[in-house]
Amino acid sequence: ALPRVYISRKVPPEGLDIIRQSGQVQFELWDSDDPVPRSELLQKVKGVDGLLCMLTEKVDAELLDAAGSPNLKVLSTMSVGFDHLCLDELKKSRGIRVGYTPDVLTDAVAELTIALLLATSRRLIEATHEAKTGGWGTWRTLWLCGYELANSTVGILGLGRIGLSIAERLKPFKVKKFIYTDVAPQPELAEKINAEYVSLEELANQSDFLAVCCALTPETQGICNRKLFSQMKKNAIFINTSRGGTVNQEDLYEALSTGQIAGAGLDVTTPEPLPTDHPLFKVKNCVILPHIASATYTTRNAMSALAANNLLAGLRGEPMAKELKL
Ligand code: GLV
Ligand code: GLV
Repeated sequence: ALPRVYISRKVPPEGLDIIRQSGQVQFELWDSDDPVPRSELLQKVKGVDGLLCMLTEKVDAELLDAAGSPNLKVLSTMSVGFDHLCLDELKKSRGIRVGYTPDVLTDAVAELTIALLLATSRRLIEATHEAKTGGWGTWRTLWLCGYELANSTVGILGLGRIGLSIAERLKPFKVKKFIYTDVAPQPELAEKINAEYVSLEELANQSDFLAVCCALTPETQGICNRKLFSQMKKNAIFINTSRGGTVNQEDLYEALSTGQIAGAGLDVTTPEPLPTDHPLFKVKNCVILPHIASATYTTRNAMSALAANNLLAGLRGEPMAKELKL
């Protein structure tokens, strides 16, 4: 019999076609744009050989137990982030191989990060709101003024593929200096943007724009907190397109509402969705997007294709194009 696979979402057509046309697996799909309910997922994974999931599915001991060993051999997540996977459990358990989708989303995420940065620093959302709700009385000298990239210092928290790609796009905006921090210096990447390695404190101190581009790990959980915000410049713009968990949102709210920093652009929050009555929605200098950094047709299709190919390669016992080293 063919290996059985469960796909936890209606994935974009490229990925689904690859799986269908492979003839290699027998698959069942949660045929919806919304996440599969947990109870349904726990039932459906029973006895499957492979699971293709999204970042909305927590893969923990409960799920692995429900899948049952030794059946589950391959887990393929359609995401670059893997904080929804309990790596400790996966390591313990049974030689499961894990695929993910780095690289194919780097351009889309970097583009969105630039858009969010400019929307925040130049107050675009506030501005369109003013224009259409009668606030546009006349041309005024300091009305809706923001901050410019020219001659600025840009700080990257976590210099990987995405951080580098953001910095490369910012270069033509005449940024004066790039600085970054990470668990260790990344000389090969840093060289491409002439970025200086600094401590987290210096990053906060010097950055006019601070972009969070790191993975969410126990080390980065809540790393953007009151201490960090209090070290930042009053004109600083804070941007997060990584994971909401890197930010202490109460501390961010305080920093924004007291003018400790100038603005924040967030594509990720805790929780997601962020409740519509959340205080962060009430501060004017906070631009919040619903986790859309990789949301282009090209990229979401490429992610689904890579996730599908990772899954199929894993089930054939071959190396995956993008496999997580557990
Ligand atoms: C998106 O956040 C991803 O991890 O792919
Ligand atoms: C702006 O539109 C200017 O003319 O200064």
